[in-house]
Amino acid sequence: MVAEQSPASRRNFLKSVGVAGGAGVMYSAMGALGLAPVPEVRADAYRAPQQSDFTLTGRGGGKTVLVLGGGIAGLATAYELGKAGYDCRILEAKDRPGGRNWTVRGGTTLTDLDGRRQTASFTKGQYINAGPARLPQSHVTLDYCRELGVELQVFTNQNANAYIYQENSAALANEPMRWRTAKADVYGYVSELLAKATDQGALDTRLTAQDKERLIPFLQSFGAIKGKADGYAYAGTNRRGYSVEPGAAFEDGTVLGPVPTLSDVIASGVGQRFSFELGYDQAMMMFQPVGGMDAIPNALAKAIGQSRITYGAKALEVKDLADGAEVTYKDAAGRTRTQRADFVVSAVPPMIMARLKHNLGTDITAALKYAVPTPVGKIGLEYRSRWWETDEQIYGGITPTDMDLATIWYPSYGYQGRRGTLVGYYNFGANALAYSALPHTERLARAVSQGVKIHGDKYRTELDHSFSVAWHRTPDIEAGWVSWPSQTGAEYKLLNQPAGHVYFAGDWLSHTIAWQHGAFTSARKVVTDIHERVLSA
Ligand code: PHE
Repeated sequence: MVAEQSPASRRNFLKSVGVAGGAGVMYSAMGALGLAPVPEVRADAYRAPQQSDFTLTGRGGGKTVLVLGGGIAGLATAYELGKAGYDCRILEAKDRPGGRNWTVRGGTTLTDLDGRRQTASFTKGQYINAGPARLPQSHVTLDYCRELGVELQVFTNQNANAYIYQENSAALANEPMRWRTAKADVYGYVSELLAKATDQGALDTRLTAQDKERLIPFLQSFGAIKGKADGYAYAGTNRRGYSVEPGAAFEDGTVLGPVPTLSDVIASGVGQRFSFELGYDQAMMMFQPVGGMDAIPNALAKAIGQSRITYGAKALEVKDLADGAEVTYKDAAGRTRTQRADFVVSAVPPMIMARLKHNLGTDITAALKYAVPTPVGKIGLEYRSRWWETDEQIYGGITPTDMDLATIWYPSYGYQGRRGTLVGYYNFGANALAYSALPHTERLARAVSQGVKIHGDKYRTELDHSFSVAWHRTPDIEAGWVSWPSQTGAEYKLLNQPAGHVYFAGDWLSHTIAWQHGAFTSARKVVTDIHERVLSA
C-alpha cells in the first residue's frame, strides 16, 4: 500500500508520524518506507516518551487560577495549567519556592516557630537536602526532571559497606556491623536451618522429593553454606568482608571473623534491617538532582515564570464565591490584599489550611484536622575530611541504628573531595520531638555523642559546621508529612472534591504521602478536574 503512494502523500504520512511519535519514530518509519538512510535527513536525538508531558486537550484560555502554596503540588498545578493556557498565580508564604523541598547551603537561614534562629555556614559546594532527598525510579518526579532539564545522579540508599548499629540488642550490641557482614550471617544461618530441616524430612508435608532436591542448591547459593557431608553448615565466607584485604602475590586475604553463633545472630536483630532495601519506594536504584533537590522547584518556578509567584504572601482567608473564589493575604510589605480567580487551589499543609478563615464549611475544617502531622528532623554535619571514605571505605549509603538519631547518611555527591557533609540524624515521631525540644547546639551535641559510638573520635574532631531542621517547628510547614487515620473515610473523600471553586492538592491527598510523586500526582488530578469542569461548562 505504501509503495503505491505518491511522493507527496508519502511526505504527509511521514509528517503525521513525526507529529504523533516524535523524531525517533519518524526516522524508523522512513526506514520502513525504504527512504532511509538519506544523507541530508538527520533525525533529532532520540527522545523517550515523556510521561510528564501531561497534556490537556482543549484550552483553558482566559480562566484564572490562584494557587495557595508554592511547594511541589502548587508549582505543578500552575505549571500544568499554564501549559493548557490558564492564567495562574501562586501565593507563597516563604521567600522561595519548594516548600519542604529545600536544600540548605552556606548562608541559608531558618527561624523556627519558637523564634530560634540558625544560619548555615556550610562551605561552598556543601549542602544537605533537608526535605526530600531520594527519588525512586517509578516516580513521576523523574519525568519532571527530564522535562525540566534537571540533571540526576545516583543516590545511594543502600550500601554493603555501611553499618548496622544496635546498642540495645540482646547480642552483638554496640558493635557496628557492616551491612554485608550482617547479611552474610543471616542469609547463611537461615539457609543452614532450612537445608537441615529439608534434609531431615521436617518439611515433608510441604515439599515433594523433587522440591527438596531443587531447594538445597538454592540454599547453598543463597547462604553460601556447606554440603550435606558437613551438615549444610554456615561457617562464614568472604561475603562477610576481610580483616586483611586480598592483595598481590601470596596475600590471599583474611576473611573477617570470628563468625558469631546462630543464636547471637538471631538475638542481634540485624536481619530485621533488610526489609528496608526491599521496600517498593526505597529499593535501588535511587536518584537525586545534581547540586541539590531544590533544582526541581527552581526549574518549575522558572518554567511558570517568576512574575506569577508572589513570595512572602501569608494567606489569611479563603472565600468561595458564586462565580469564583478569592484569597485574602498579607503581602511581604505587610499590606492586606485580596485576589480573586475563577478557581483557587489550596496546596498548603492541611493543618495550616484548617486554621485559615474560610467559608467552606465546618466539615471541611474537621476533615483537614483529621490529618495527623508527623514530626521529622534532620541535621547536616560538615566535616573537614571525608573520613568515612578514606578510613572506612563508605561511599554513600545509610547506617541504620536503634539510637534516637535513627540513621546516618553518607553523601552521594562529592566523592574523594576534601570536605563532605553527612546527615547526622534523620528521624521521625518521638525521636524527632526529642531533638527538636533542644536548642540547636544541644541537638548537635546529642547527635555527635551517638555518632561517635559508631565512627569514633573523628566524628567529633573533624566536625566543622552543622545545621538542623525540625519540620514540625518550621513556619508555614509544621510537619514532615501527615498521616491519615483512614484514607477510605468521609474526611479524605471530601478533600478530594472541590469545595465550590476551591480545590485541595498535596502529597497528603495521595497514596504516596511524603514523596514528591504524591504532590505531582495530586496536582495533576486537580488540574484534570478543573479542566474537565471548564470544558463542560
Ligand atoms: N520519602 C521519605 C523518605 O524516603 C519519607 C518516607 C519514609 C516515606 C519512609 C515513606 C517511607 O525518607
